[in-house]
Amino acid sequence: MVNRGEFGSRLGFILAAAGSAVGLGNIWGFPTQAASNGGAAFLLVYLVLAFALAYPILMAELILGRHAHGNSVVALTRIAERPVTKAIGALTGLAGILVASSILSFYSIVSGWMLGFTASYPLAAMGFDAHAAWLTDFSLSRNVILMTLFSAMTIGIVMGGVQGGIERWSRRLMPTLIVTLIVLAAYVLSLEGASEGLRVYLVPDFSKILSADLILRALGSAFFSLSLGVGTMLIYGSYISDEEHLPSIGVQVALIDVGIAVLAGFLILPAMYVALARGVEIFDATGALLSEDTLIFTVLPELFATLGTAGLVLATAFFFLMSVAALTSSISMLEVPVAFLTERFQWTRSRAAIIAGVFIGFLSTAIAMNFDSLFGFVIAASTRYGQPMLGLMLCIYTGWIWRRDSVLAELRKNDPDVASGVFWKIWPWYLRVVCPVVIGFILWRSLL
Ligand code: PFF
Repeated sequence: MVNRGEFGSRLGFILAAAGSAVGLGNIWGFPTQAASNGGAAFLLVYLVLAFALAYPILMAELILGRHAHGNSVVALTRIAERPVTKAIGALTGLAGILVASSILSFYSIVSGWMLGFTASYPLAAMGFDAHAAWLTDFSLSRNVILMTLFSAMTIGIVMGGVQGGIERWSRRLMPTLIVTLIVLAAYVLSLEGASEGLRVYLVPDFSKILSADLILRALGSAFFSLSLGVGTMLIYGSYISDEEHLPSIGVQVALIDVGIAVLAGFLILPAMYVALARGVEIFDATGALLSEDTLIFTVLPELFATLGTAGLVLATAFFFLMSVAALTSSISMLEVPVAFLTERFQWTRSRAAIIAGVFIGFLSTAIAMNFDSLFGFVIAASTRYGQPMLGLMLCIYTGWIWRRDSVLAELRKNDPDVASGVFWKIWPWYLRVVCPVVIGFILWRSLL
């Protein structure tokens, strides 16, 4: 049996799990989606879905992981009693490893861009314009080299282990991220035009709130944002000590994740309208707000360019923030295959991290070389279909396959009265009925 490692403290775990959750999805995905989908209306639906649907599944992962103190394949096999359900459980665990690796393969490319943009501003200021342009212009060489750099950082941290790598770096990076985000938002809010962005963000357009498309997107956003389905949270849960009270730890992780997404909205939306006030185009030909890649890599850089030296500092800080957020997420994705390889094949952590990391790097390279056909495809397959399907399986396994007395025993470890509490009264029912029905419905809709 390999030495599995354990988080050294509750705060360490919360920062690591929140670090996994808080990523490009929060700072980039959520605000841009909110901007294009009714502002506060989207925010409201997102909040409801995050707590009513995503949180119960987050808890399922944490509880499953801690119960097994093992990787997702072990966890899902152990709770099943029949050979068929054991086999399907193992396959689900393996599928999670595959999906986590696919997400990491495109995530590292995008994160590499963030590193490139971070370095490009100081370089341009020092007169290295050609280098700065190489870092920001789309090219195969840039995509592959920066992806490799980002992957090397991810591998390096994961090699350090649960406490020495993941926990230590999450403790450093998460506070940096939060402070940077607050300072950036405060500055942008003080600029002319910001109040219009605030209005769009905070005054709900209720005509959009009941649109099926909006709900679908908000759910996808909440799932991606909380890193659900693929076993990341399960594996982090497996490193929590039996003394910890899981339901409250889970709430804190969800609150930080949602809180940072909401906070990022106070940066991104006002920034768009500050850009507008400074003559930058923020609407496309159809009158819709520019979003996603155009927003981050065109609108914001144009805004920064109008702000002189402040713009230089702001731009560097912003892309640094994105890089940090990406790194605490990528380490959690790499941990999924690494935990499996160390536990299943008794590999050392370093060996597993390097081999899995390099393998995923090859996947990223294949995507970079066939960008037009593969990039969007891998994103859709892994996040729009893969994550919800795996989430559905986790609900079924925790809600239907895992014996209730055994689930209760797991929760009783640190809370003898759990059976009389609100959590136990609501949560199992949610997992058995509400979550599978809603996820099933959403999947069915998105397949149409
Ligand atoms: N939660 C991350 C984000 O919001 O950017 C993305 C993510 C991390 C998805 C880890 C899946 C995962 F396993």
